[in-house]
Amino acid sequence: MRNQIVAIDGPAGAGKSTVARRVAQRLGYCRVDTGAIYRTVALLAQEQALSGEAEIAELAAALPLSFEDERVCVGDRDVSRAIREPEISQAASVVSAMPKVRTALLELQRRIARDHPDGAVMEGRDIGTVVFPDAEVKVFLTASVVERARRRHEELAERGVPQSLAAVQAEIEERDARDRSRAAAPLLRAEDAVEVDTTGKTVDAVVEEIVALVALK
Ligand code: DC
Repeated sequence: MRNQIVAIDGPAGAGKSTVARRVAQRLGYCRVDTGAIYRTVALLAQEQALSGEAEIAELAAALPLSFEDERVCVGDRDVSRAIREPEISQAASVVSAMPKVRTALLELQRRIARDHPDGAVMEGRDIGTVVFPDAEVKVFLTASVVERARRRHEELAERGVPQSLAAVQAEIEERDARDRSRAAAPLLRAEDAVEVDTTGKTVDAVVEEIVALVALK
């Protein structure tokens, strides 16, 4: 049993999901989208009108979450669409700044990744620094803020949630600032992570770059 962990961290809109999905397919590993976990906690907290750190951490600790192919489920409920609303993006960034919530979600993230016999491609903000500091491969994916806004804008339009490009860029900048400046597990490149700037690169080129890094291990 190998269970290799490929950590892909980086800011919103750097291309983590697309790249992680493709790298996981190439390697035959599962993809674990940890942002979806924070988003799910934010959605449920909002629905249950919870705002205190302790009560949201309690909710997170008992989260019956599962990934089924591309779907994110809480028990029998498919929350895949609901967690992608722009409002939940901001709410996820807020709950993810709560240290008790992060601690409550650590074991869940590790368990999901270890569940797969061959390995996992895990995407997030603190995979290489906190969740799996010993991951064999660590990538820090970046892109210029203009490029990230453009991609997120297109993605939202495709999903039928149109927003102006300026609004998307402002939302990304606000989230980046919060994710980078929080005290608990802020978004930062692990010392031993390889930075891959995706600005102007095709998805194929980025996937090849990461698969080549894995091959070196
Ligand atoms: O990757 P995403 O946009 O779906 O993530 C939503 C929010 O969750 C993001 O603003 C920061 C937070 N997050 C985090 O703090 N740590 C992670 N490992 C993944 C996401």
